[in-house]
Amino acid sequence: MLKLPGLIDPHVHLREPGATHKEDWDTGTSAALAGGFTMVLAMPNTQPPIFDSETFNIALTAAKQKARCDYAQYLGAGPDNAEIAASLADRAAALKMYLDMTFGELRLDDMTLWLPHFEKYPKAYPIVVHAESRSMTAAILFSAIYDRHIHIAHISLKEEILLIKAAKEKGIKVTCEVCPHHLFLTATESPSPILGEGLGVRAESPSPTRAERSTSEVEAGRGARGEGRLEVRPRLATQKDVDALWENLDVIDCFATDHAPHTLQEKDSENPPPGFPGLETLLPLLLTAMHEKRLTIDDIIQKSVINPRKIFNLPDQPETWIEVDENAEYEIKAAEQFTRCGWTPFEGWKVKGRVRRVVLRGREAYRDGKILVEPGYGRNVRV
Ligand code: NCD
Ligand code: ZN
Repeated sequence: MLKLPGLIDPHVHLREPGATHKEDWDTGTSAALAGGFTMVLAMPNTQPPIFDSETFNIALTAAKQKARCDYAQYLGAGPDNAEIAASLADRAAALKMYLDMTFGELRLDDMTLWLPHFEKYPKAYPIVVHAESRSMTAAILFSAIYDRHIHIAHISLKEEILLIKAAKEKGIKVTCEVCPHHLFLTATESPSPILGEGLGVRAESPSPTRAERSTSEVEAGRGARGEGRLEVRPRLATQKDVDALWENLDVIDCFATDHAPHTLQEKDSENPPPGFPGLETLLPLLLTAMHEKRLTIDDIIQKSVINPRKIFNLPDQPETWIEVDENAEYEIKAAEQFTRCGWTPFEGWKVKGRVRRVVLRGREAYRDGKILVEPGYGRNVRV
């Protein structure tokens, strides 16, 4: 049995308020505990989005009643909330800026809208950006100009990791995270045969590259049954990109799930929303990669505990740890998961390394498939 500190996921979508048929604070934090996470940072692209004190309190009220693991809530950067967001900063996980097209309403198309947030948000916390490719480059320049820390969410491309590496070498205050789906899946090939069949669907023909697709396609979706399940932002990339992420693991500060649950019915519809669930698969996938000598246990602890704690200025969780049977082999099955969305892109993958027990602040919170703490046990770590 391997004993590890409780993992921290800096990027989850718990869907409450507004879309509790996909997930809520109860099911999402149960999925977190089952996956070995004792703390999650919840994204603000809910319905309504979390961007002022009223919406912030709606999310925190639901969380207080229902969360089973510890948490903090992000604020979303909107076109005119820079002042109010800055005033709430001490109570928030951090500020999230959506600089590219994705699920939800919080998008800042115009760079003049970025300025007040970079000027006003307190430097004690990072600004987390959803910024891909060239908009990521622009965000890094903002970071340099304003001399403030930005954390780049879910990087997926070779050009991104190489630029972040160069930016760090120049002393620019930039950190980044990567998600398991961008480390284990590609857009054009079926997933690794060693690990199994993955999505259970294969892209019929190689997908066009990102640049070839118009942004309107993002909103329109791609329609065909099965293909909707592959939809995620950032899109799954090429083997060359995946290889570059693995080759530059030392540049990656955090692992994050970007747990973005949507129901299967939604994923298989005409307009499939982008996003994969991920809370219950990150650790077994990484432990499997550890057995394959692609990373070490120290990498996992560094990127899933130590670095997120430091980057987001999060408190220690006393008497908190997880126990993992590192040699237990099993098959990932959506039917055994706690997430409400009812599917996983890793269905049927054979993995090695299973979470057995989670102890959170002195209480046994999870053991062998059972959640043992009640809704409301989770604490807001920013209170
Ligand atoms: C996320 C969601 O569904 O909220 N979707 C996704 O594909 N990652 C939004 C996001 O993180 O961009
Ligand atoms: Zn996300």
